[in-house]
Amino acid sequence: MADKMWAGRFSKELDKRVNDFNSSVSFDARMYAQDIRGSIAHATMLGDTGIIDREESLKIVEGLNGILNDIDAGKLEIDPNAEDIHMFVEQVLTERLGDTGKRLHTARSRNDQVALDIRMYLKDEIMNIVPMIKELTETLCKIAEDNLDTVMPGYTHLQRAQPITFAHHLMAYANMLVRDLGRLSDTYQRMNFMPLGSGALAATTYPIDRRQVSAMLGFDDITQNSLDGVSDRDFCIELCSALSILMMHLSRFSEEIVMWCSWEFKFIELDDAYSTGSSIMPQKKNPDITELIRGKTGRVYGDLNTLLVMMKGIPLAYNKDMQEDKEAIFDAIDTVKLCISTFIPMLATMKVNCENMRAAAARGFINATDCADYLVKRGLPFRDAYKITGTLVARCIEKGTTLEELPIEEYKSLCEAFEGDVYDAIKLETCVNMRKAEGGPAPGSVKAQIAYIRGAMEVNIRP
Ligand code: ARG
Repeated sequence: MADKMWAGRFSKELDKRVNDFNSSVSFDARMYAQDIRGSIAHATMLGDTGIIDREESLKIVEGLNGILNDIDAGKLEIDPNAEDIHMFVEQVLTERLGDTGKRLHTARSRNDQVALDIRMYLKDEIMNIVPMIKELTETLCKIAEDNLDTVMPGYTHLQRAQPITFAHHLMAYANMLVRDLGRLSDTYQRMNFMPLGSGALAATTYPIDRRQVSAMLGFDDITQNSLDGVSDRDFCIELCSALSILMMHLSRFSEEIVMWCSWEFKFIELDDAYSTGSSIMPQKKNPDITELIRGKTGRVYGDLNTLLVMMKGIPLAYNKDMQEDKEAIFDAIDTVKLCISTFIPMLATMKVNCENMRAAAARGFINATDCADYLVKRGLPFRDAYKITGTLVARCIEKGTTLEELPIEEYKSLCEAFEGDVYDAIKLETCVNMRKAEGGPAPGSVKAQIAYIRGAMEVNIRP
């Protein structure tokens, strides 16, 4: 094992078990590009301010670029025994440049370095996740466009309630996803402050130019307090919470898909490429993807809980507990990306069984509200109309029939205001088409929703 960079104070070599226990390189290695980009900005600033010799600064930048290229190209393997990615990069730089490499860490601590790296990494990941959510939302918009007239029952308490369309149902999820984009955008904005220069905790005595580093790395501004700069992990928690809410949406959607695939519903059929079989039951076709998404939602919630609990009891400023932030937030990011990228093609290839949706909508008296509204339009108070319709429904249940099939005499026997046109009024298509208030399921209204969502995706995201 190479001498630790901090070896000077110590007379014994670190116990191998402690080294392994302490090391974060197995999971922070993924931040190598951000670490090197941050160091390049820092070294440039050190040269420009005259804190180190300009020649040496240029050499360091060149050396760092070389390391970046070598890792990218697979020519330099990240040492699994390194303490963390920050130490590894500096070690390699020093091996390559000698004493010049040792000047990189001037006016910097690993505490502000890691705070910088993680912010840069998470910003990059938000920028990866945003287009994935947009693609998922657009996928929903496309399926919705094809199903503007696909009548299905809308539910409350999982009881058939009122007629809607499949397009309308899908667009509910599109709205959730657009809010998820908004939350990611907010999170991005609040994490876009550059912490380098906070030092270990109390900034530095060198005449650094934090604003230069901030501008070079594309931050909006610099953090305003050095203690907060190194000990803040709000942005991890905020991101994880935005991702948890996103997963909650995917999980609810998944649950509906699981139901819709069942023989009890048969509203949709997943493509064979996105379903799995059983090892014993030859007839089975299981919606495993959606169940896994539902299951993995718990995992992301767990990551959020890990971060919240990790932070709640630690005094200012940096404490090693905070090294645990990475596995949690990285796991949340990986899980979300995996789920979305599987979910999109699964949705895009699923078959919609319009007839089954229509048939389900035809049973369950989901036009009863419209029947009552018919009477209201003819002057009855809603409460009376409600009661009359309730009695009609009871008669239908008794006779094993539907409101559509119940003879007009039955209607009239309860209320003289009923005329033959009641059958038009309670037709499912009429019930849907009349719900044309903004936000409603009528095809025109859903078309407007689709346009709105597409517009919101264009403007909502700041980064
Ligand atoms: N690997 C550490 C982390 O991820 C880097 C910061 C270490 N700082 C320290 N003083 N030990 O948090």
